[in-house]
Amino acid sequence: MTKPLLLAGVFLSLCRYRAAAFLTFWLVVVSASVSAAVSVSAPPRPSQDAQGNRLRYAATGHISNYDESKVGNTTLPDPLVRQNGQPVRDAQTWLTVRRSEILSLYETEIFGRVPPTVPKVAFEVVATDPQALGGVAVRKHIVVRFGDVANGPSVDVVLFVPAKARRPVPLLLQLLFGTPPGITPKASLASEGPKVPNEVGPISDFVARGYAYATFCYKEIEGDGPTLNLRGVRKLALAPGQEKPADGEWGTIAAWGWGTSRVLDCLATDPTLDAKRVGLVGHSRLGKTALWVGAQDPRFAVIFASCSGEMGASLARRDFGESVDDVVENFPWWFTSRFQKYAGHWNDLPVDAHLLIALSAPRRVFVTGGTKDLWADPRGEFLAQVAAGPVYRLLGKKDLGTTVLPPLDTPLTGGDLGFLYHTGGHDTTAADWKAFLDFAERTLRPVP
Ligand code: GCU
Repeated sequence: MTKPLLLAGVFLSLCRYRAAAFLTFWLVVVSASVSAAVSVSAPPRPSQDAQGNRLRYAATGHISNYDESKVGNTTLPDPLVRQNGQPVRDAQTWLTVRRSEILSLYETEIFGRVPPTVPKVAFEVVATDPQALGGVAVRKHIVVRFGDVANGPSVDVVLFVPAKARRPVPLLLQLLFGTPPGITPKASLASEGPKVPNEVGPISDFVARGYAYATFCYKEIEGDGPTLNLRGVRKLALAPGQEKPADGEWGTIAAWGWGTSRVLDCLATDPTLDAKRVGLVGHSRLGKTALWVGAQDPRFAVIFASCSGEMGASLARRDFGESVDDVVENFPWWFTSRFQKYAGHWNDLPVDAHLLIALSAPRRVFVTGGTKDLWADPRGEFLAQVAAGPVYRLLGKKDLGTTVLPPLDTPLTGGDLGFLYHTGGHDTTAADWKAFLDFAERTLRPVP
């Protein structure tokens, strides 16, 4: 006999009015089964709205919004007001006081601190092809290794340098979801994580314009998934007996960012490259990563965050597309554990995307969004670029030049902040690459 039936029997035998108790018992049983049947047969909630936009139902009760009239309170923290309420009136105060405040808030509350126990890094050039891309480039395969355990994490970096370069050339470094061209994916990575078709930039165009181009797969630094996020550099950094990063320590975005800077350390030793003229490119979660790298590593002179969305370039306070609640619930490992508390409390965030962008100032930041990528909130990405403008102006740089969303497919590339709203989806389009190269040219000064 099952436990509930046994309990029911005891209940019945203890009751004075057995018939009434018997009836009550069966009423309860029947109504419970009816309500279970009703909840089982309830129609599934739609995963898309009528326009095909993704709908997510967060545990907080939040449902994705795509109605501009319902984006809510978007009063942003003022980039030029210190936490103690004092205004920031000069570049010096921005650079020495306010910027540090924001950097530290992003580190403690959002992405997490890189622990002092990070693994050591070594690299080796394992192959060189002086006749790559039909003879116009030298291709190198560089392996960057972390830690000193055999078969520990390692990153396959592929580098193309214009064959005719006579002096050190500027570098474009791109984080990839997949493996770089010509590299066989490691068995552990082959089937894992999102795939992004055609993500590799137009290498021949880069080389023809006078750039070197290097690329690698982010998952080789640290994994990306509920059960995969602690197998790379974050695992190596754990102290003996420690099972996961401590409260306030790095999530995977910070780990991918740390690894990206280490890849640049290795590339910077190559005499054919000018490590002071480097552009960093990342798409989507890798665009979020690129922005966080730009905030911390001044060697990156230009950042390109393609469709970077929530906790990247789009304003978190705007309730449009993906929300803080979604990102906290679906990708908790991307962030430090303290970020969790902002689910449902977006206005308590001490920062927002315009401040993440402004951390790269006076260096340049280019942002894109797509008409079919409303999940990433392209308007929110544009408004964050606008709201970073006061910092650029304070530093004597040029802002976006407008506060009105430009017409589709019309790149804004004349300032130190750039933007393109492309017709299309969650991609880095050919037009995005062209606009980015036009934007980057004044800073990176390649010689074709
Ligand atoms: C998901 C996630 C986004 C992220 C994207 C990606 O869509 O919700 O925040 O940018 O994945 O990285 O591809």
